[in-house]
Amino acid sequence: MSKNKALGVYTSFSALGATAQGLVSAAWDASHRAFCFQSNFPVGSAILAENDRGEARVFHGCNVENDFFPATICAERNAGTTAVAEGYTRFKMVAVVCRKYPGGSPCGLCRQFLNQFGRAAVLLNIVDHDKNVRVATVGELLPSAPETAVETYDSLDATERRLVRRVLEMKGRSYVPYSKNPRGSLFIASSNAGKTRTFTGMASDNASYGGSIAPENVAMYSARTAGFTHNVRLITTVKDLHTANPIDGEVLQVLREFGVDSDVVLVDDNRSILRTALTSLLPDSFGPESL
Ligand code: THU
Repeated sequence: MSKNKALGVYTSFSALGATAQGLVSAAWDASHRAFCFQSNFPVGSAILAENDRGEARVFHGCNVENDFFPATICAERNAGTTAVAEGYTRFKMVAVVCRKYPGGSPCGLCRQFLNQFGRAAVLLNIVDHDKNVRVATVGELLPSAPETAVETYDSLDATERRLVRRVLEMKGRSYVPYSKNPRGSLFIASSNAGKTRTFTGMASDNASYGGSIAPENVAMYSARTAGFTHNVRLITTVKDLHTANPIDGEVLQVLREFGVDSDVVLVDDNRSILRTALTSLLPDSFGPESL
């Protein structure tokens, strides 16, 4: 899977500084406490974080699974929420290990979570049982779309103009009393029989926040329900075409379940578009082949 290139610079355990080595070992130890009866895929994480007084501490976590799949928490979020609960909100260094060879990389939801507390944090992704790592940054997990030319609405053909109008119309139908962030999405996909259809979605909030659903996910799950899972293209509204992390990490992870080859089109309020791809927005993605 050459399209899904690994992020970061390979570095041997012995070449790491003492702090990084300690963090890697803490992540490794935490993975032994993984509660993963569903996946048998133990993951450990350790996070070096600072509080407002500039004090630093290490927090660790493992994945904790549940009979109800969505109640599972990943190792990175387990470690990170513990840090935040203790007042350590500035993440400086994050170590992760998926102990099953050949390992993996943080899932989209964990990327989204980690980004909130430090895009500049050093990421140490442990790649083997000798605790050698790939070194990157948390920000690299959710980059901006590559700077290709933005296309204006007027430059689009009639078919694409219709898609742009439709996705903005979906945005207008959003139910967003809490996030106040209306968004709309279209998902175009083909069936086994080679038919192509467009599925629509809008943002829907829920008072518990976690029960909210992103417009992209509404459209993608509708497509999957109808059996349209091939040659997928996601068209979605964003606030800014050039910002880092233009689409939420969890949404990108849902898109990843359709394969790494998915195309993505970002649409802004001016009806301009930027064409990109899943591999650009979610590099080195975690997928079913890791399990
Ligand atoms: N998992 C993590 O703990 N972190 C990741 O970044 C990837 C996935 C867990 C969730 C689940 O318990 C198992 O690994 C298989 O996906």
